[in-house]
This record gives sequence, structure tokens and C-alpha cells, in this order.
Amino acid sequence: MEHDLAALERACGQCEQCPLCTGRTNLVFGTGVPDAKIMFVGEGPGMQEDLQGKPFVGKSGQLLDQYLSLIDLDREKNIYIANMVKCRPPQNRDPKPEETEACLPWLRSQVKLIRPQLIVCLGRIAAQRLISPDFRVTKQHGEMIAKGQMTFMGTFHPAALLRNPAQKADALADFQKIRAWMREH
Ligand code: URA
Repeated sequence: MEHDLAALERACGQCEQCPLCTGRTNLVFGTGVPDAKIMFVGEGPGMQEDLQGKPFVGKSGQLLDQYLSLIDLDREKNIYIANMVKCRPPQNRDPKPEETEACLPWLRSQVKLIRPQLIVCLGRIAAQRLISPDFRVTKQHGEMIAKGQMTFMGTFHPAALLRNPAQKADALADFQKIRAWMREH
């Protein structure tokens, strides 16, 4: 494994392990501080992310940043944000399981280097792969789940909140749980 995130990102930029690499404008490797205690993991880049090479910079990213700022988290200061897949799926479709599997070693390497204590899964795709295959966001969001040395939480994907604002109150409660976790750690 590469010994720092920049080297890992360069190596990831050469990856051709799945067909998504052929459609990317930019790799969307991840962003944030290299020793973050908390890591957020989304699904995969959308159009804006693909154009800018950064995760969550479109509409759902703006909502995510609002929620983060409410609990004093900031991608420039104290967290790291990545996605399950680092290249944009065409037409923003869900990444296929084989694409997620092909990309998983990169995420694992990011986690090994950053060593977060809490991983927050944004949406079903991340939660079902990283927490449990039968994870139901609507039922299990906000639960703190210990796994080995790390704690995992699944919450709503910000794009889902934009489609269904009725879930925003639940999502805010999840972010308050993250804040409570931070006070204890
Ligand atoms: N949705 C995601 O899951 N990730 C991004 O980076 C942007 C939108």
C-alpha cells in the first residue's frame, strides 16, 4: 500500500479495474484532513464532482456542508469525505456491485492511512456494503455500530433528503448523534 494519501491518489488515478474509468473526466478520490477522526462515505461522483474532481460539490454537497457546519465539522478542518466508487457512473446510476467491489481496495487503503474512529455511511449503497447487506436506512439510521476498532453509522444520502425533505428532521437528529459521539471521543 502507498504510504501517503497523495501517493495513493496518484496510484488510483491509474486504476482500470472497472469500466467506470473510461467515462471519467476526473478521478474523485476524496478530500479532507489526512488524520480525520470521522470519515464520510458516499456513493459515487455525480456530474459536478466528475468535473471538479472533488466529492460532494453539487447540490447534495451543499446540503451536506450545511449539516456538517451545524455540528462544527468542516471538510477543510476536521473530516475526510470519500465515495464507494471514485469514478462517475454514467447518468448518475447506482454503482454496480462489481464496480463497488473493484473500487473497495482504494477505500480500504484510505481508511488504513486515515484511521478514522467513526465512519458515517451516506445512503444505502455505502451502508449496505460497509455495515451490513440488509441495512435499512429508514429503520437503522443513526445507530452507532461498533465493528472492530471502528464505529459505523448509516444515515440518509443528502440527495435523498433533497428528494424527500420530510426525512430532514431524522437526518438532523443523526448529525446531533455524531456531535454527541464527538464529545465522548
Ligand atoms: N453523491 C455521492 O454519493 N457522492 C458525491 O460525491 C456526490 C454526490
